[in-house]
Amino acid sequence: MKLNKLEDQGTRKIPCKNKIFLAPMEEINDIVFRLLCKKSGCGLTYTGMINPLTAKEIVLDDKPALQLFCTSTKGIKEFMKKYDSKVSLWDFNLGCPAKTAKKHGFGVFFHNELEQIEKILKTMRENTKKPLTIKIRKSKHTFKIIKIAEKYCDGICIHPRTQPQGYGGVPDIKFAEKIKSKTKLPVIYSGNIDESNCKEFLKTFDYVMIGRKAIGNPDIFARITKNKSNTSFQDYLKLAKKYDLPFKQIKLQAMNFTKGKDNAKELRLKIFEIKTLKEFG
Ligand SMILES: Cc1cc2nc3c(=O)[nH]c(=O)nc-3n(C[C@H](O)[C@H](O)[C@H](O)COP(=O)(O)O)c2cc1C
Repeated sequence: MKLNKLEDQGTRKIPCKNKIFLAPMEEINDIVFRLLCKKSGCGLTYTGMINPLTAKEIVLDDKPALQLFCTSTKGIKEFMKKYDSKVSLWDFNLGCPAKTAKKHGFGVFFHNELEQIEKILKTMRENTKKPLTIKIRKSKHTFKIIKIAEKYCDGICIHPRTQPQGYGGVPDIKFAEKIKSKTKLPVIYSGNIDESNCKEFLKTFDYVMIGRKAIGNPDIFARITKNKSNTSFQDYLKLAKKYDLPFKQIKLQAMNFTKGKDNAKELRLKIFEIKTLKEFG
Protein backbone atom coordinates (compact mmCIF):
# COMPACT_ATOMS: atom_id res chain seq x y z
CA MET A 1 0.00 0.00 0.00
CA LYS A 2 1.43 3.35 -1.01
CA LEU A 3 -1.10 5.65 0.57
CA ASN A 4 0.40 8.34 2.70
CA LYS A 5 -0.72 11.68 1.35
CA LEU A 6 -3.35 13.92 2.87
CA GLU A 7 -5.63 13.38 -0.11
CA ASP A 8 -5.58 9.68 0.69
CA GLN A 9 -7.60 10.31 3.86
CA GLY A 10 -10.49 7.95 4.21
CA THR A 11 -9.19 5.56 1.56
CA ARG A 12 -7.34 3.40 4.05
CA LYS A 13 -9.87 0.84 5.18
CA ILE A 14 -9.94 -0.29 8.78
CA PRO A 15 -8.51 -3.82 8.58
CA CYS A 16 -10.87 -6.11 10.44
CA LYS A 17 -12.53 -9.52 10.20
CA ASN A 18 -15.93 -8.10 11.12
CA LYS A 19 -17.46 -4.93 12.54
CA ILE A 20 -17.41 -5.86 16.21
CA PHE A 21 -14.23 -4.81 18.01
CA LEU A 22 -12.72 -5.19 21.47
CA ALA A 23 -12.57 -1.69 23.00
CA PRO A 24 -9.19 -0.48 24.29
CA MET A 25 -8.94 -1.29 27.98
CA GLU A 26 -5.87 -0.56 30.03
CA GLU A 27 -4.88 -3.46 32.32
CA ILE A 28 -7.53 -5.75 30.83
CA ASN A 29 -6.35 -6.07 27.22
CA ASP A 30 -3.14 -8.01 27.71
CA ILE A 31 -1.84 -10.10 24.83
CA VAL A 32 -3.55 -13.30 26.00
CA PHE A 33 -6.94 -11.70 26.56
CA ARG A 34 -6.72 -10.09 23.13
CA LEU A 35 -5.80 -13.41 21.50
CA LEU A 36 -8.77 -15.15 23.16
CA CYS A 37 -11.14 -12.40 22.00
CA LYS A 38 -9.78 -12.69 18.50
CA LYS A 39 -10.17 -16.47 18.51
CA SER A 40 -13.72 -16.05 19.73
CA GLY A 41 -14.55 -13.92 16.68
CA CYS A 42 -13.72 -10.34 17.57
CA GLY A 43 -13.19 -8.30 14.40
CA LEU A 44 -10.30 -6.19 15.70
CA THR A 45 -8.59 -6.00 19.08
CA TYR A 46 -7.17 -2.87 20.68
CA THR A 47 -4.38 -2.50 23.18
CA GLY A 48 -4.96 -0.24 26.16
CA MET A 49 -3.49 3.25 25.98
CA ILE A 50 0.28 3.33 25.71
CA ASN A 51 2.58 6.26 26.33
CA PRO A 52 5.43 5.99 23.80
CA LEU A 53 7.84 7.59 26.26
CA THR A 54 7.29 5.14 29.10
CA ALA A 55 6.22 1.96 27.26
CA LYS A 56 7.90 -1.32 28.14
CA GLU A 57 8.36 -4.03 25.48
CA ILE A 58 4.95 -4.83 23.92
CA VAL A 59 3.85 -8.19 22.49
CA LEU A 60 1.56 -7.72 19.49
CA ASP A 61 0.99 -11.27 18.16
CA ASP A 62 -2.70 -10.52 17.52
CA LYS A 63 -1.84 -7.57 15.24
CA PRO A 64 -4.03 -5.18 17.22
CA ALA A 65 -4.90 -1.54 16.90
CA LEU A 66 -2.33 0.19 19.07
CA GLN A 67 -3.53 3.20 21.02
CA LEU A 68 -1.14 6.04 21.81
CA PHE A 69 -1.55 8.17 24.91
CA CYS A 70 0.57 11.30 24.95
CA THR A 71 0.55 15.10 24.93
CA SER A 72 3.52 15.78 22.68
CA THR A 73 5.18 14.37 19.59
CA LYS A 74 8.22 13.31 21.61
CA GLY A 75 9.17 9.69 20.98
CA ILE A 76 6.30 8.99 18.57
CA LYS A 77 8.48 8.54 15.50
CA GLU A 78 10.82 6.02 17.14
CA PHE A 79 7.94 4.17 18.79
CA MET A 80 5.94 3.87 15.58
CA LYS A 81 8.96 2.76 13.61
CA LYS A 82 9.54 0.00 16.11
CA TYR A 83 5.99 -1.39 16.10
CA ASP A 84 4.46 -0.34 12.76
CA SER A 85 4.78 -3.74 11.07
CA LYS A 86 3.09 -5.43 14.05
CA VAL A 87 -0.11 -3.40 14.28
CA SER A 88 -3.29 -3.23 12.19
CA LEU A 89 -3.80 0.45 12.78
CA TRP A 90 -2.80 3.30 15.06
CA ASP A 91 -5.18 5.09 17.36
CA PHE A 92 -4.81 8.22 19.46
CA ASN A 93 -6.52 8.46 22.85
CA LEU A 94 -8.58 11.58 23.48
CA GLY A 95 -10.94 9.99 25.95
CA CYS A 96 -9.32 8.94 29.19
CA PRO A 97 -11.22 10.64 32.08
CA ALA A 98 -9.09 9.29 34.94
CA LYS A 99 -7.51 11.39 37.70
CA THR A 100 -4.02 10.44 36.52
CA ALA A 101 -4.89 11.74 33.04
CA LYS A 102 -6.10 15.00 34.60
CA LYS A 103 -2.84 15.41 36.50
CA HIS A 104 -0.79 15.34 33.29
CA GLY A 105 -3.38 16.76 30.89
CA PHE A 106 -3.88 13.54 28.87
CA GLY A 107 -6.95 12.06 27.19
CA VAL A 108 -10.13 14.08 27.54
CA PHE A 109 -8.18 16.78 29.44
CA PHE A 110 -6.19 17.41 26.26
CA HIS A 111 -9.25 18.46 24.21
CA ASN A 112 -8.53 22.19 24.31
CA GLU A 113 -4.97 21.74 23.00
CA LEU A 114 -6.05 21.80 19.36
CA GLU A 115 -2.67 22.82 17.94
CA GLN A 116 -0.85 20.13 19.84
CA ILE A 117 -3.45 17.52 18.83
CA GLU A 118 -2.86 18.45 15.21
CA LYS A 119 0.91 18.14 15.63
CA ILE A 120 0.53 14.68 17.13
CA LEU A 121 -1.84 13.43 14.42
CA LYS A 122 0.41 14.89 11.74
CA THR A 123 3.42 13.13 13.22
CA MET A 124 1.51 9.87 13.42
CA ARG A 125 0.37 10.27 9.81
CA GLU A 126 3.93 10.90 8.66
CA ASN A 127 5.18 7.75 10.33
CA THR A 128 2.81 5.10 9.04
CA LYS A 129 0.96 4.04 5.94
CA LYS A 130 -1.50 2.16 8.13
CA PRO A 131 -4.92 3.55 9.02
CA LEU A 132 -5.07 6.11 11.78
CA THR A 133 -8.00 6.75 14.11
CA ILE A 134 -8.82 8.82 17.18
CA LYS A 135 -10.93 7.69 20.11
CA ILE A 136 -12.75 10.61 21.59
CA ARG A 137 -15.33 11.53 24.21
CA LYS A 138 -18.09 14.10 24.16
CA SER A 139 -16.92 17.62 25.01
CA LYS A 140 -17.35 21.14 23.68
CA HIS A 141 -14.23 20.58 21.57
CA THR A 142 -15.17 17.23 20.00
CA PHE A 143 -16.34 18.62 16.65
CA LYS A 144 -13.30 20.92 16.33
CA ILE A 145 -11.04 17.93 16.93
CA ILE A 146 -12.92 15.84 14.38
CA LYS A 147 -12.30 18.57 11.80
CA ILE A 148 -8.57 18.22 12.49
CA ALA A 149 -8.77 14.44 12.47
CA GLU A 150 -10.38 14.55 9.05
CA LYS A 151 -7.08 15.85 7.67
CA TYR A 152 -5.03 12.93 8.97
CA CYS A 153 -7.25 10.05 10.10
CA ASP A 154 -9.21 7.21 8.55
CA GLY A 155 -11.81 6.76 11.26
CA ILE A 156 -13.30 8.22 14.43
CA CYS A 157 -14.22 6.25 17.49
CA ILE A 158 -16.74 7.99 19.72
CA HIS A 159 -17.58 7.13 23.31
CA PRO A 160 -20.28 9.77 23.82
CA ARG A 161 -19.95 10.29 27.54
CA THR A 162 -18.45 13.42 29.07
CA GLN A 163 -15.43 13.42 31.36
CA PRO A 164 -17.52 13.92 34.54
CA GLN A 165 -19.70 10.96 33.54
CA GLY A 166 -16.69 8.65 33.62
CA TYR A 167 -18.14 5.25 32.73
CA GLY A 168 -21.55 5.83 34.27
CA GLY A 169 -24.68 7.60 33.15
CA VAL A 170 -26.30 7.38 29.78
CA PRO A 171 -24.09 7.70 26.69
CA ASP A 172 -25.38 10.49 24.42
CA ILE A 173 -26.25 8.43 21.37
CA LYS A 174 -27.71 11.48 19.60
CA PHE A 175 -24.29 13.15 19.90
CA ALA A 176 -22.66 10.10 18.29
CA GLU A 177 -25.28 10.12 15.54
CA LYS A 178 -24.53 13.79 14.89
CA ILE A 179 -20.86 12.90 14.39
CA LYS A 180 -21.85 10.12 12.02
CA SER A 181 -24.01 12.51 10.00
CA LYS A 182 -21.33 15.23 9.87
CA THR A 183 -18.19 13.30 8.99
CA LYS A 184 -17.32 11.28 5.93
CA LEU A 185 -14.95 9.14 7.98
CA PRO A 186 -16.15 5.76 9.24
CA VAL A 187 -17.43 5.96 12.80
CA ILE A 188 -16.82 3.34 15.47
CA TYR A 189 -19.33 3.53 18.33
CA SER A 190 -18.38 2.71 21.92
CA GLY A 191 -20.60 2.73 25.01
CA ASN A 192 -22.77 -0.01 26.54
CA ILE A 193 -22.62 -2.29 23.51
CA ASP A 194 -23.59 -5.90 24.16
CA GLU A 195 -25.15 -8.92 22.46
CA SER A 196 -28.65 -7.46 22.57
CA ASN A 197 -27.96 -4.12 20.87
CA CYS A 198 -24.86 -4.44 18.70
CA LYS A 199 -26.68 -5.32 15.48
CA GLU A 200 -29.03 -2.36 15.99
CA PHE A 201 -26.09 0.04 16.48
CA LEU A 202 -24.49 -1.30 13.31
CA LYS A 203 -27.46 0.03 11.36
CA THR A 204 -26.25 3.56 12.23
CA PHE A 205 -22.52 3.19 12.82
CA ASP A 206 -19.84 1.54 10.69
CA TYR A 207 -18.34 -0.44 13.56
CA VAL A 208 -19.00 -1.00 17.26
CA MET A 209 -16.69 -1.89 20.10
CA ILE A 210 -17.36 -3.82 23.27
CA GLY A 211 -15.60 -2.91 26.49
CA ARG A 212 -16.88 -3.93 29.91
CA LYS A 213 -19.20 -6.67 28.65
CA ALA A 214 -16.16 -8.47 27.23
CA ILE A 215 -14.21 -8.42 30.51
CA GLY A 216 -13.89 -12.03 31.69
CA ASN A 217 -16.15 -12.92 28.80
CA PRO A 218 -14.27 -13.22 25.49
CA ASP A 219 -16.99 -15.56 24.24
CA ILE A 220 -19.33 -12.59 23.84
CA PHE A 221 -17.78 -12.22 20.38
CA ALA A 222 -18.53 -15.87 19.56
CA ARG A 223 -22.15 -15.51 20.58
CA ILE A 224 -22.60 -12.40 18.43
CA THR A 225 -20.79 -13.78 15.39
CA LYS A 226 -22.28 -17.27 15.82
CA ASN A 227 -18.86 -18.77 16.25
CA LYS A 228 -18.31 -21.82 18.39
CA SER A 229 -16.18 -20.98 21.39
CA ASN A 230 -16.09 -22.02 24.99
CA THR A 231 -13.25 -20.07 26.56
CA SER A 232 -12.41 -20.72 30.18
CA PHE A 233 -9.89 -19.27 32.61
CA GLN A 234 -7.82 -22.43 32.01
CA ASP A 235 -7.40 -21.36 28.36
CA TYR A 236 -6.24 -17.96 29.59
CA LEU A 237 -3.88 -19.54 32.11
CA LYS A 238 -2.26 -21.84 29.58
CA LEU A 239 -1.43 -18.97 27.25
CA ALA A 240 -0.51 -16.63 30.09
CA LYS A 241 2.17 -19.12 31.12
CA LYS A 242 3.41 -19.27 27.53
CA TYR A 243 3.64 -15.48 27.39
CA ASP A 244 5.08 -15.33 30.90
CA LEU A 245 2.53 -12.77 32.08
CA PRO A 246 2.97 -11.40 35.61
CA PHE A 247 1.21 -13.27 38.42
CA LYS A 248 -0.71 -10.10 39.36
CA GLN A 249 -2.17 -9.90 35.85
CA ILE A 250 -3.18 -13.57 35.85
CA LYS A 251 -4.89 -13.12 39.20
CA LEU A 252 -6.80 -10.09 37.89
CA GLN A 253 -8.06 -12.08 34.92
CA ALA A 254 -8.92 -15.05 37.14
CA MET A 255 -11.19 -12.69 39.10
CA ASN A 256 -12.69 -11.40 35.85
CA PHE A 257 -13.45 -14.88 34.56
CA THR A 258 -15.70 -15.54 37.60
CA LYS A 259 -18.16 -13.00 36.19
CA GLY A 260 -21.61 -14.46 35.67
CA LYS A 261 -20.81 -17.74 37.44
CA ASP A 262 -23.29 -18.96 40.09
CA ASN A 263 -20.53 -19.35 42.66
CA ALA A 264 -18.65 -16.17 41.65
CA LYS A 265 -18.41 -14.81 45.19
CA GLU A 266 -16.99 -18.04 46.54
CA LEU A 267 -14.52 -18.32 43.66
CA ARG A 268 -13.33 -14.74 44.14
CA LEU A 269 -12.66 -15.34 47.81
CA LYS A 270 -10.58 -18.38 46.86
CA ILE A 271 -8.67 -16.47 44.16
CA PHE A 272 -8.05 -13.64 46.59
CA GLU A 273 -6.10 -16.05 48.81
CA ILE A 274 -3.93 -17.43 45.98
CA LYS A 275 -0.29 -16.44 46.34
CA THR A 276 1.53 -18.47 43.65
CA LEU A 277 0.99 -19.45 40.03
CA LYS A 278 1.08 -23.17 40.96
CA GLU A 279 -2.08 -22.79 43.02
CA PHE A 280 -4.03 -22.02 39.84
CA GLY A 281 -3.24 -25.57 38.69
C1 LIG B 1 -11.07 -1.08 32.73
C2 LIG B 1 -11.21 -0.12 31.56
C3 LIG B 1 -10.08 0.37 30.95
C4 LIG B 1 -10.20 1.25 29.87
N1 LIG B 1 -9.08 1.68 29.23
C5 LIG B 1 -9.18 2.44 28.12
C6 LIG B 1 -8.03 2.81 27.37
O1 LIG B 1 -6.89 2.43 27.70
N2 LIG B 1 -8.21 3.57 26.27
C7 LIG B 1 -9.47 4.00 25.86
O2 LIG B 1 -9.58 4.68 24.84
N3 LIG B 1 -10.57 3.66 26.54
C8 LIG B 1 -10.46 2.89 27.64
N4 LIG B 1 -11.59 2.50 28.29
C9 LIG B 1 -12.91 2.88 27.74
C10 LIG B 1 -13.46 1.80 26.81
O3 LIG B 1 -12.66 1.63 25.68
C11 LIG B 1 -14.91 2.12 26.36
O4 LIG B 1 -14.91 3.24 25.53
C12 LIG B 1 -15.84 2.37 27.54
O5 LIG B 1 -15.65 1.42 28.57
C13 LIG B 1 -17.31 2.32 27.10
O6 LIG B 1 -17.59 1.10 26.50
P1 LIG B 1 -18.33 -0.11 27.32
O7 LIG B 1 -19.64 0.45 27.83
O8 LIG B 1 -18.52 -1.16 26.26
O9 LIG B 1 -17.45 -0.53 28.44
C14 LIG B 1 -11.49 1.65 29.40
C15 LIG B 1 -12.61 1.15 30.04
C16 LIG B 1 -12.50 0.28 31.11
C17 LIG B 1 -13.76 -0.25 31.77
